[in-house]
Amino acid sequence: MAADFTSLVAIVTGGASGIGAAITRRLRAEGARVAVFDLAPQAAGADLAVRVDVGDDATVVTGVQRVIDEFGRLDILINNAGIGAAGDITGNSDEEWHRVLDVNVVGMARVSRAALPHLRRSPSPAIVNTSSVAATTGLPQRALYSASKGAVLALTRAMAADHLHEGIRVNAVNPGTADTPWVGRLLDAAPDPVAERAALEARQPHGRLVTAEEIADAVAYLAGPRAGSTTGTFLEVDGGMAGLRPRPRE
Ligand SMILES: NC(=O)c1ccc[n+]([C@@H]2O[C@H](COP(=O)([O-])OP(=O)(O)OC[C@H]3O[C@@H](n4cnc5c(N)ncnc54)[C@H](O)[C@@H]3O)[C@@H](O)[C@H]2O)c1
Repeated sequence: MAADFTSLVAIVTGGASGIGAAITRRLRAEGARVAVFDLAPQAAGADLAVRVDVGDDATVVTGVQRVIDEFGRLDILINNAGIGAAGDITGNSDEEWHRVLDVNVVGMARVSRAALPHLRRSPSPAIVNTSSVAATTGLPQRALYSASKGAVLALTRAMAADHLHEGIRVNAVNPGTADTPWVGRLLDAAPDPVAERAALEARQPHGRLVTAEEIADAVAYLAGPRAGSTTGTFLEVDGGMAGLRPRPRE
């Protein structure tokens, strides 16, 4: 594996924390040079860290140009930045709907369209989008968030079809509940964080939260040149949550 990413350049959005930070570490360990696009880029351990708001087209366009100025190429785009939302269908205002869809879905379109002219020149171009188990499995109190992540899966397939003949592969990962600062914030806000964590762990068929490193491994596979025949699909990294109906543990 070690030579797979040598000389390749990647952008990881939301790469300063959690899953994106693990993806950044993993791609760098495999030899890629990685630019992190984030609202808080100073926290990123990357080759280049740029303050980009995926909700703001001007910062996206400037950020992609910074990558080209610095490295002269772009091979891999990891659309990972995302924000959460809680509540049933009555639980979010129009403003919240527009904001979450703007970051989680339109944000991927903004970065992808700015990256495309450069990906077209890569010998091994790939895009990986971070979706969620919420895209394929009904979770309570996640109406808006689930809608945004379902849109990510549909967008992934449509992009894979559009860019198939250009050799640009587009795939997604669907993580289950992962042990990241995001989930840490949810636990901190719960009335009983210990009980809430136990409930989230129990919801995972394998009995624990997913690690950011496990998701990064899946992303690295999908982004890498060895996955040359894999496009328009998604990889579940959820301990079996989407597809399994296990009996309770003895
Ligand atoms: N943690 C989970 O359980 C889980 C499960 C499934 C999917 N996901 C998805 O994984 C992705 C990463 O989640 P995480 O748990 O690592 O979260 P996190 O909050 O730890 O990290 C998210 C990063 O994205 C950045 N970000 C947020 N809005 C941004 C914007 N507008 N522009 C640029 N950067 C922005 C944040 O600054 C942060 O560094 C998200 O898309 C999330 O929906 C997370």
